[in-house]
Amino acid sequence: TNKGMKIVIVGTGYVGLTTAVMLAYIGHNVVGVDIDEKKIELLKKGKSPIHEAGVEELLASLKNNITFTTDLKPNVGEADIIMIAVGTPAKVNGEADTHYVEEVARTVAEGLINGHTYTVVVKSTVPIGTNRRVAHVIKKTLEERNVKSTVYIASNPEFLREGMALYDSFYPDRIVIGSEDPEAIEMLRRMYRPILEQTFDPPQAIPRRDGYSLPPLITTDPVSAEMIKYAANAFLALKISFINEIAGLCEKVGADVTEVARGIGLDTRIGLRFLNAGIGWGGNCFPKDTAALIAVGREYNYEMPIVEAARRVNQIQRERTVEKLQSVLKGVRGRTIAILGLSFKPGTDDVRESPAIDIIRLLIERGAYIRAHDPVAIENARKAFTTEELQKITFVNDPYLVAEGADAVLVATEWQLYRQLDLKRLASVMCTPILLDGRNIYLPKEAREAGFTYMGVGR
Ligand code: UDX
Repeated sequence: TNKGMKIVIVGTGYVGLTTAVMLAYIGHNVVGVDIDEKKIELLKKGKSPIHEAGVEELLASLKNNITFTTDLKPNVGEADIIMIAVGTPAKVNGEADTHYVEEVARTVAEGLINGHTYTVVVKSTVPIGTNRRVAHVIKKTLEERNVKSTVYIASNPEFLREGMALYDSFYPDRIVIGSEDPEAIEMLRRMYRPILEQTFDPPQAIPRRDGYSLPPLITTDPVSAEMIKYAANAFLALKISFINEIAGLCEKVGADVTEVARGIGLDTRIGLRFLNAGIGWGGNCFPKDTAALIAVGREYNYEMPIVEAARRVNQIQRERTVEKLQSVLKGVRGRTIAILGLSFKPGTDDVRESPAIDIIRLLIERGAYIRAHDPVAIENARKAFTTEELQKITFVNDPYLVAEGADAVLVATEWQLYRQLDLKRLASVMCTPILLDGRNIYLPKEAREAGFTYMGVGR
């Protein structure tokens, strides 16, 4: 019943590729565009450039609904919807750099056809006011070309988590659309209908969401939509920083932060999720988006002390992890420290702003040697370090082997694989069996029984 729309998605990163795959799966005709030829080559072969559960399985089943190209301009003319999902990297001052978004908007406008109607959607996380800029760039370019097309603009921020990207796009908590044009809102409502009404065949490759009810559609103005995205990420980041701050005090007074988190989280006004104390948050979103939010505030001479504190606590959390190792080992100089996990969280090979990487760097600065394991992120991690740093790091493909001869082991990423380790065996291969459980994945009692000197975060 829902006739497929022609959708061009520009940018095949986490957001663009996942959205493209999801939209193709629910029946639209999707063209994924990226300037990165290597990425497009891979995608043409059905291979995913990102490690994301279900993407390749779905790609394989979608051959007819989705194509990939590096050519943007010739592909937008016949489209109904054009989604911009390119990166907005951070500038040195924290501000998000929107020049890719604007460049894409211009190229899109250069390909639009006289008399056609389009909806252009900004999906990238962009500073307040970017939608207005995109609208302006498109209008100006069309005028210069003397082409009359009708272009509606909408902001449609994305809340997907890496590692759960497809799951989150098939089963979102909500869909947010910000636009001044009722036509754009209507188009996107139609585009998302199978998701809003949950009428698609659940893909085999991703788990179904238990107890899920239909996702609300929030329609608002573009500026509010842009703000929702930043405020959501900032809030989640500060929720984690809050529990990390409480964890530090728990250690002083002898409380267990996992008990405290459960005790407060069961209050439905607080909620249990994102209250896991650990070595801090990383990834491409929280660090960048909190910085960008502060930068937006600065532009208006407006301070954001809570968001700033969340970032500071996150930095301190990395330093405290190193201090814990310093103090238990009576200095880390010359010691060998095994690191379990390099990605910023499980389920991804992404090491951007990963606390594991920062902590390794701090440890090396203090003279430690590192042995590091990760099930998928070693290749990316290698690129994150300098040549000098790499001389101090040995990457190991086996979680037991990595601990061999080590003076301490730090669990930096809570991969399922690590939860299932035989702790006795792990302890037995180490020089001194010291375990810093940076994600609180083990029961302290079990780790101690296995022979470890156990330290968690906040307990
Ligand atoms: C986040 C948002 O969740 C998502 O909605 C947005 O679209 C993009 O940013 P992502 O960066 O993929 O997603 O990861 P997320 O699962 O949110 O984790 C972020 C960081 O917080 C990770 O480093 C993780 O280890 C850490 N974290 C998360 C904690 O330390 N404790 C928690 O309780 C939850």
